[in-house]
Amino acid sequence: MKDNLSEQQFAIIPTVVSGHQETVIVDFLKTAREMLRQARKLEDIQDIWQKVNALEALSKKFRLSKEVQLDATELRIRIERRLGEILSKKFENGEEDVKRQNNTSNFSFTKNELSKFQKLASAPQKLFEAVVTDLRTESTIKRKIVLSITRILRDIQNENKKDRETLFSPIIKPSDNWNFSTVQYGKIDDKPEEDRGYIPGEIYANCFWYYVKPGDLVVAPMAGSGQVWRVYEARQEWMGKDIYDFNLKMFDLTPRGKYKHLITQHDLTKSFPVENSDYIVIDIPYYGMVAQQYSDKPEDLANMALEDWKIAIGAIAKNCAVAQRTGTFCTVISPNYRDIAKGQIFMITDSIRFLWESVGYLFYDKAYSSRRIQQNQTIQMARMNNQAKASRIMLTDITEILTFRRL
Ligand SMILES: C[S@@+](CC[C@H](N)C(=O)[O-])C[C@H]1O[C@@H](n2cnc3c(N)ncnc32)[C@H](O)[C@@H]1O
Repeated sequence: MKDNLSEQQFAIIPTVVSGHQETVIVDFLKTAREMLRQARKLEDIQDIWQKVNALEALSKKFRLSKEVQLDATELRIRIERRLGEILSKKFENGEEDVKRQNNTSNFSFTKNELSKFQKLASAPQKLFEAVVTDLRTESTIKRKIVLSITRILRDIQNENKKDRETLFSPIIKPSDNWNFSTVQYGKIDDKPEEDRGYIPGEIYANCFWYYVKPGDLVVAPMAGSGQVWRVYEARQEWMGKDIYDFNLKMFDLTPRGKYKHLITQHDLTKSFPVENSDYIVIDIPYYGMVAQQYSDKPEDLANMALEDWKIAIGAIAKNCAVAQRTGTFCTVISPNYRDIAKGQIFMITDSIRFLWESVGYLFYDKAYSSRRIQQNQTIQMARMNNQAKASRIMLTDITEILTFRRL
């Protein structure tokens, strides 16, 4: 290696610099950069580090321009990253070897410094460059911001965290408690004032996330006003950078709303509309709560008495089973029902489980989501609460998301 910055030359820096300090240090930094480019051995790089460290100190001592001071600091940090790379490689071959080399050189780094160098080296090149550029710009503008290895490592860590946050959108719940303090995908029905029976689109997002694989054929046979489509279209928002595609088909007895043209009219009690569905998600009409809400058709589950409802749901379970292969998933969304006025309790989700199990599905998983009925503390709500307490029957708030696996 051609060593332009020899020990002799280096020793005379302080005297030479008087008067032309900036030009001299800029030249030495240029030489050091070239030396670093060519250096391969740990000892050579340690040597360049020592010299650049001195240049950095001099640039501060002589109060050279901020630009030159930052050039020196940046170069020192780049050398530290190179050291980190070499040390990491050497560590892979045996820690003792590196320790020995470090002790036999003219100087040694502390354990903490070595660990910082290695952390610096583990950052992807692009991220490292971006963080250094940003930090340099900031430190030129703001006096308080310092270009340092500690600050770079912190910024790299923050950037990585941001990446993780984008991947794991808060819409996707890491637990079986699928509650959403702010609903991003609210009701899109024709009658916005009619809130009963709607599910936040976030429930669909979570179903897709947990049960849909890339390229799957997904069917929503009770798609209503197409909330499921809105969530599907917005999947970039909640899937983040790991977004993948799948095929979604929608059907309903009474298609409506702004996605009506994408929803095919179909009675699910008669048959399943497509073959070989990889995933089925059904937001059924909640028993006892939504009579006449979607239509006045007798085949509309919302309008059925309990016995007919059970027969219809049983037929739907069978139709799903015919349309699915072993190992595929089917999700049914429903709460239980408590009739406060009549003092009756209907364990609807137990019936659903029984019916799906009896046509060849295994109960696979369950999540819960609040219907947020207590959200509006109106006089009407207060009356309902008092009525519920007086009749010793709880109000139904929880929707269950029941998922079955085809045997
Ligand atoms: C709870 S809503 C689904 C709402 C839907 N999540 C949305 O985005 O609007 C239940 C749906 O089941 C439909 N439905 C009722 N009986 C049906 C049947 N026999 N076949 C197919 N769909 C039916 C209703 O028309 C209604 O749209």
